[in-house]
Amino acid sequence: MARRLLGAGATDMKFVRKDGVERSHSMSLDPIEDDRGQVTGYVSTSEDITERKEAEGRLVEALATEREAVERLREVDQVKDAFVSSVSHELRTPITSILGYTEMLEDGVYGRLNDEQLDAVRRLSANSARLLSLIDDLLTLSRVQEDGIGFADRIVDLRKIVAAGVAVVAPTLEQRDLRLDVDIPEEPLPFLGDRDMLERVVINLVGNAVKFTPEGGRVEVALTCDDHTAEIAVSDTGIGIPADEQERLFSRFFRSSLAQQQAIPGSGLGLSIAHAIVEKHGGAMAVESEPGRGTVFRVRLPLLTAS
Ligand SMILES: Nc1ncnc2c1ncn2[C@@H]1O[C@H](COP(=O)(O)OP(=O)(O)O)[C@@H](O)[C@H]1O
Ligand SMILES: [Mg+2]
Repeated sequence: MARRLLGAGATDMKFVRKDGVERSHSMSLDPIEDDRGQVTGYVSTSEDITERKEAEGRLVEALATEREAVERLREVDQVKDAFVSSVSHELRTPITSILGYTEMLEDGVYGRLNDEQLDAVRRLSANSARLLSLIDDLLTLSRVQEDGIGFADRIVDLRKIVAAGVAVVAPTLEQRDLRLDVDIPEEPLPFLGDRDMLERVVINLVGNAVKFTPEGGRVEVALTCDDHTAEIAVSDTGIGIPADEQERLFSRFFRSSLAQQQAIPGSGLGLSIAHAIVEKHGGAMAVESEPGRGTVFRVRLPLLTAS
């Protein structure tokens, strides 16, 4: 009846065999007791652990290489982000100027335009506006991803944020046959966060729901909360998102195969912006969707609780 010495454990040692090969051994010393519990001697055991040690060494090396690779990728990503951000800044000024001139042309500042000319200028103007909004989205995204910059944390009432976001999208419903229901609690729902950024999340989600839902459908926005979490749920009865594409939903420029097939316009930046904003607020975003049936986006935000 051998029992390991209390606290002794095993010790790893290296031996050089006669043939000069080095081996690792795990040595341990265990007491032998007689029937009365008296220690009468010790058993020394040795286990050859050379292969295990070598495998451990290889694993440690592999992990270090992987860590370095991740670090390098992160650096590349930062350089890329900085590049996108500075290019966007540079593009903003000339496009704003183009938009200004097209507006003046439209207004007849440089003389009256005939219908054909006016039509051409309007196309110019619409496309410049699209470019500008794309650039603004890129800038917002890089601003949100930069640590700690651009966030004004205040106590805000989430009900007001949801209502304001919905109000921005509502005019696009005027020429549509869509039902929009908004369910907001009666009591204020205070939350510490950036009002404009959170409103942008609501605008992006409700805007998508409206954009990706065919006529006759329904969009529902609901704000609820329990003791710890507030939830904004935006549901629609629209085209849905194929299951195998859902994991890429929050990456930049992602557009589902359905959105592309049906030529529904968009840049694919809205959800990555919304996702980044929600994460900055310590929250999480989830999606449930089925092609042809509809989609639900849920934004969960952690409430401050007195502890
Ligand atoms: N409510 C929705 N229903 C169906 N597809 C959606 C919905 N919301 C987002 N998507 C899909 O996710 C993609 C990314 O959304 P987003 O980043 O807002 O880009 P955009 O609206 O510019 O296309 C969309 O192009 C669309 O394919
Ligand atoms: Mg969108």
